[in-house]
Amino acid sequence: MKLQDILDLKAQLVESDLPKVKQALREHVQEVKAAFLAATRPADLENEKAKAIKSLSFKEFVKRVDGANQTLKKELGAAINEAARTVEEELRLRRKALADEAMNARLNAEKLDVTLPGRIQQIGTIHPISRTWMRIEEIFASIGFEVGDGPEIETDWYSFTALNNPENHPARSMQDTFYVDAKDSEGHFLCLRPHTSPMQVRYARMHLPPIKAIVPGRTYRVDSDATHSPMFHQFEGLWVDEYISLADLKSIYTQFLEQFFETKKLNVRFRPSYFPFTEPSAEIDVMFEEGALAGRWLEIAGSGQVHPAVIRNYGLDPERYMGFAFGGGIERLAMLRYGVSDLRLFYENDLRFLNQFV
Ligand code: DAH
Repeated sequence: MKLQDILDLKAQLVESDLPKVKQALREHVQEVKAAFLAATRPADLENEKAKAIKSLSFKEFVKRVDGANQTLKKELGAAINEAARTVEEELRLRRKALADEAMNARLNAEKLDVTLPGRIQQIGTIHPISRTWMRIEEIFASIGFEVGDGPEIETDWYSFTALNNPENHPARSMQDTFYVDAKDSEGHFLCLRPHTSPMQVRYARMHLPPIKAIVPGRTYRVDSDATHSPMFHQFEGLWVDEYISLADLKSIYTQFLEQFFETKKLNVRFRPSYFPFTEPSAEIDVMFEEGALAGRWLEIAGSGQVHPAVIRNYGLDPERYMGFAFGGGIERLAMLRYGVSDLRLFYENDLRFLNQFV
């Protein structure tokens, strides 16, 4: 007999009906389980669950029992609870099975091929200018120089006036730079520094002698051809102390060049020149004894003994302190070291060029 048929009976249930009811409940639970298994979508399963709960309502059974028969009510209650627990467990299993199926279907749909080789990461390299910059810092640090840093947007005073290069002086045109549409406290337009020399003054005003420092950085000039770029790099060197001489400068710079080019087979010459901020002034030239560049003097940097007027702008007494300064292009050194003939190659970001420095 089906559970529903028992409930539909007009007669009241008595104790001897109990085995019949229990049997019907067991069969009913099997049917519910089958319905759960037949449900293939979570929504269908939840519908079956609602039906099952309704069919196991104790209230429906109690209507068929004589109100005074407590024993039968208790027995019925226990049997229904037992059936409900089984249904609940079946529901839990079926929910989990449907969730697993859904997950597997998704994984299959994504067609994950774990045998596919990974994508190769393109790892960048250090740009030849940065390498050269780092190399210069390392070498000078190894001979006792500090490394400084300063602004690329500079005032007129630090760029020129403090370096003994007064307004309207023709030497200013050696360094025609870019101006910024903003003025400093003296009413002069700010500029992109045309050289790292302003950092001599900034550095010396912030440090007490003896001073031994280099300051590498970006510099700007209105210039553009195979050996000039509107943005380029320089490094400034400054040595301020009480008893030093041009011989010290020459020895330091020669040591630097020998280490930088990894050869002792080179000659260094100080060729008289003019800079407003040094007196005397010299261009530093190098000539290699071997290799593709052998036998030619190559200009490397400007240098000289710091002019007394500039020492005064450092905030120091030129009667007591003397200074030696030098400044040169980082691109120039990189071009010589790596045999690069056109400076613009450094800025074109052409991988065929850059990959040679891996
Ligand atoms: N600032 C100069 C330039 O850009 C180079 C230079 C010359 C720097 C002589 C110095 C120096 O420190 O003493 O052309």
